[in-house]
Order: sequence, then C-alpha cells, then structure tokens
Amino acid sequence: MSVLGRTAALVPAAGRGERLGAGVPKALRLIGGTPMLVHAVHALAGSRSVDLVVIAAPEEAVERVRALFLEDLGAEILVVSGGDTRQASVARALIGLPDDVDVVLVHDAARPFVPSEVVSAVVAQVRSGRPAVIPALQVTDTIKQVDGLEMVVGTPDRAVLRAIQTPQGFDRAILQAAHAAADDDTATDDAGLVERQGVGVHVIPGHEEAFKVTRPIDLLLAESVLAKRRAGRAHG
Ligand code: C5P
Repeated sequence: MSVLGRTAALVPAAGRGERLGAGVPKALRLIGGTPMLVHAVHALAGSRSVDLVVIAAPEEAVERVRALFLEDLGAEILVVSGGDTRQASVARALIGLPDDVDVVLVHDAARPFVPSEVVSAVVAQVRSGRPAVIPALQVTDTIKQVDGLEMVVGTPDRAVLRAIQTPQGFDRAILQAAHAAADDDTATDDAGLVERQGVGVHVIPGHEEAFKVTRPIDLLLAESVLAKRRAGRAHG
C-alpha cells in the first residue's frame, strides 16, 4: 500500500426502499428536513479520514443527487448511477476510482448517523495493515435458522454472532479482486465477497447510532437521534 494513497468512501444509495413504503428513493427520504444520504455523506466527510466520496445514486436521480452536494464538505464528491442490487451499485462506484486511492470504505446511505469515530477507527485499522475491517454489535435477539417451510433447523450460540454495520473498510486491491471474482451479484455486504477469497476480516466495535434505516419505525428512531444531537449542540 502506498504511503501517499487517498481514502475513498463508496456509498450505495440506489435502493428503492420498499420496506419503508412507496415514494421517493430511500436515500432521499428526509430526516429532520434533510435527505438521509446527505446526513450519511456528512458523517463520512466530517470524520476527516475520507478524501473522496463516490455515491451510487438511483439512475433517475443522478442529477438531483449531484445538486445536493454543491457546497464544500472537505471531501471530493462524485455521483454515479447505481445498479439493480446493492452489490452492483458498489461495483459501479468502484469503476473509475482514481489511481491514487488505496483504501476504500463502503458505507450504506441508509446508515445516516454513523459516528465519525467509527469511520476514523475503520480507516485507521486498514491503514495499520489489516486488509478488511468491519464494525459490528453483539446481537440482542436469539437468532434461529429456518428452512423453506419456516421450521427451525438450528439455534446458533448468540455469543458468537455479530450484527454487522458499515462503513466496511478494505485495502483497495483486495476489494476490487473480490468484486471481480464474484459470480453473482447478491452479496448484502462487501466483507462477504472478501471472505470468499479467503482473506481475514477483522471485526471492531460498531455503534448503536450506526443502525440501518429499513422499516418505518427506524425513521422515528432516526428523527430522535437527530433531535438529541441537535439539542446537544444547542446546549454544548
Ligand atoms: O436494501 P438494503 O437496506 O440492504 O440496502 C443497503 C444499502 O444499499 C442502501 O443504502 C441502499 O440504498 C443501497 N442499495 C443500492 N442499490 C440497490 C439496492 C440497495 O445502492 N440496487
């Protein structure tokens, strides 16, 4: 890895958000009057660990998304058209990444409130030589595995399970090789592709506020997190 390399964050933001209910693409849903995607990009750029952000936007909203990022956030912002799956959107964002980028994060637009410390910790761990680093939380529910008939086939020990968040951080060459080797485009995270290559993936502590906005109730939680942060700033 070159000492002078830059860090890029790829932001898949092309999801329809059907579980949130019909309407605008999920990444453009407003939280506190601001699109979810804008909060997510601010979290990345605000960490000061990211030099370049590449957003994979819904095909029909590329220009609309570009218009959201005209002010200087301290990181360069590029917007490309996303694909039909999350994996395809990440692959499109990887194309055309400048040569001087050597560390790549992948961060869901649907995780608007990841704390900057988590972003910086992931980058620092990759820069210290770990090829793949992902933030995670212990799971609180008991998880069961079921078959196609909804019959339980197993109960893994909860102590060894982790709920994985983003940003996930990678040595650029390793992430690109993992995407190039994928023979389908159904991966729900990038570490999954890297694991298939036999590369070790390190888990570090995630954060409750890095939750993914998926269902309507998550929007209520997101509004509350934002209100708490704004109140903290007003009194701080
Ligand atoms: O669907 P899910 O919640 O797992 O999506 C995670 C992230 O992947 C979201 O930020 C979503 O916008 C993005 N995505 C994408 N392209 C797709 C599907 C999802 O960029 N075709």
